[in-house]
Amino acid sequence: MKAVLAYSGGLDTSVCVKLLQEEYGYEVITVTVDVGLEEKELREAEQKAKSLNAKHYTINAKEEFCDYIFTAIKANATYEGYPLSTALARPLIAKKVVEVAKKENAQALAHGCTGKGNDQFRFEAVFRSLAPEMKIIAPIREMNFTRRESMEYAKKKNIPVEVTTEKPYSIDSNLWGRSIEGGVLEDPSIAPPEEIFEWTKITKKEPEIIEITFEKGVPTELNNEKLDKVELITKLNKIAGMHGIGRIDIIEDRILGIKSREVYECPAAEVLLLAHKSLEQLVLTRETIKFKEIVEAKWSELVYKGLWTEPLREALDVFIDKTQENVYGKVKVMLSDKKAMVIGRSSPYSLYSKEIISYDKKADNNKELEGLLKYHGLQASLHHAKK
Ligand code: ARG
Repeated sequence: MKAVLAYSGGLDTSVCVKLLQEEYGYEVITVTVDVGLEEKELREAEQKAKSLNAKHYTINAKEEFCDYIFTAIKANATYEGYPLSTALARPLIAKKVVEVAKKENAQALAHGCTGKGNDQFRFEAVFRSLAPEMKIIAPIREMNFTRRESMEYAKKKNIPVEVTTEKPYSIDSNLWGRSIEGGVLEDPSIAPPEEIFEWTKITKKEPEIIEITFEKGVPTELNNEKLDKVELITKLNKIAGMHGIGRIDIIEDRILGIKSREVYECPAAEVLLLAHKSLEQLVLTRETIKFKEIVEAKWSELVYKGLWTEPLREALDVFIDKTQENVYGKVKVMLSDKKAMVIGRSSPYSLYSKEIISYDKKADNNKELEGLLKYHGLQASLHHAKK
């Protein structure tokens, strides 16, 4: 019997390989989906899988992941201040795992999530939608392993892992961000130690101004240079990261209702979401902006909960795409000292009229306004008259 495991090369998923082989009696096939990992991480995962006697697949899904990211940009997607970096990648990883399982005629799909987090929901919802006939195995959850027990099991079975008691963090990274959990971060009153950060160490002190071009709501150029999606996001992660931009430290409400302290590094996400929103302010009508905020919150919640395959998500995407038809233009962003700030925006579809707003021009409707003003706040004035 064959089981296909979503494999990161980290502690939990490496322990899963052995558990699936020894406790569950499966032949294990590991799949590492590259949604923006370092070359080194990919090679290490490959080698580790080999040393664990698993047949291994590395799947490059960076381009495809950018399509997910671009949808999230159009949706201004955040959940409680989190740009959904991990949440967004899980459905794609799950989809790729299912594809391999079908090709390999496997009987089971597996993931290394614990029973406390969100990722189990995300993997399993997609697994069940795309391969309802396959069995789902979650060894870490089923064995109810703590992180310490995982470490001990790994040691006992000679599984090579870098996680130590001094650096016990659970880290997940992809093009849209880096999530850091565990260790001292579990005390929400303690400041995150500097050593956990990798993408947002300040190495550039002077402020820097960048310009992002958007077409139909998605970024296409950085400083007037056309870049492909992967390049653009990778480059922006570096540029904004050097200014320390994109650090997030929040208390997040997990799917199960558990409150969790989460630390993220999402430099490109922070800049692109900010810039996109400011361009929308210029080109969308007030009605669209206000209604879209409701849609954005729902879209983000669905993605956070792992309900990627929910038809409502696709229906909302159609609405969101319609709103992006005029979202063309350029946004200038100043990066300095942990902060990104929009300092200019322009668009051929701008609804802004200097003619109308300018203090230097006489208004031509003051007489008509008088009538309108009499009715503005009518009910409030009647209410106060009764007092
Ligand atoms: N709390 C975040 C989320 O639910 C991050 C999860 C990170 N996962 C991990 N295995 N470290 O999306």
